[in-house]
Amino acid sequence: MAVSIRPLHPVFAGEVAGVDCRRPLGPEEVAVIDAGMDEYAVLVFREQTVTDAEQIAFTRHFGELESYGTPGHIRKRADQRLGPGIADFSNLDKDGRIMSAEDRVWFFKLGDRLWHSDSSFRPVPAKYSILSGRVIPSWGANTEFADMRAAYDALDERTKAEIEDLVCEHSLKYSREAIGFTDLTEEELTAFQPVRQRLVRTHPATGRKSLFLASHAGAVLGWTIPEARMFLRDLTEHATQREFVYSHTWRPHDLVMWDNRATMHRARRFDRNEVRDVRRTTLAGDGPTVEQGL
Ligand SMILES: [Fe+2]
Repeated sequence: MAVSIRPLHPVFAGEVAGVDCRRPLGPEEVAVIDAGMDEYAVLVFREQTVTDAEQIAFTRHFGELESYGTPGHIRKRADQRLGPGIADFSNLDKDGRIMSAEDRVWFFKLGDRLWHSDSSFRPVPAKYSILSGRVIPSWGANTEFADMRAAYDALDERTKAEIEDLVCEHSLKYSREAIGFTDLTEEELTAFQPVRQRLVRTHPATGRKSLFLASHAGAVLGWTIPEARMFLRDLTEHATQREFVYSHTWRPHDLVMWDNRATMHRARRFDRNEVRDVRRTTLAGDGPTVEQGL
């Protein structure tokens, strides 16, 4: 069966048919999906009952897995439920029990409900993320995506000129501070040193410009903090207007792939007494968006 893609939203996001993500893909299938990602930026694959190993193998068709020496979270290696190469975005602890409402890891995870782009707090931010929905709560828990290319295109010319060369600082500490979680250890703060990212990116395949925003962004180089935070908040509000947002309602075994270079996303609320088991694989980006100067 040939691979086909149908739009899910007027601006971006598509649903793919004719792909079994459990099996090795041929070069033509990879090319169609890659071209689909360039066009739609978010692709949904339904009814993909993948194992962790199959999800990792599927992901590797599109690049190299992201791998860092420093953590992108506060959970210690010994407390992790899943093996290497796949990240746990569930509300479960290492024994498969629902996390306590007072668990620091839960506090940290709540920050994913702010708009962000995965790994924008890394010197080389992520290319694609692939999220597999294994167990889906009965209410809520949508993932929302915003098209940052469309958001950029809709800016007025004066703003486009003003932001063209701006550089922001991104850190996990800024996004966690925004929800009042400031109880970070010295070790965590060291791991969350801010990195620099361009505010306007150009997509390497399509040449389209996009706003590179995230709740991890907490400063603009050369600007005062209040001016920067207010401007970033204004831009985020602009970029996440409903016309630029696709809200994904999860069905069990959906696999959703998105391009972090062209979109932002956020998790939505659900009943924390129900299990949400979603697992993410992440592809490394091509390089830094700006010299780090650290
Ligand atoms: Fe994310």
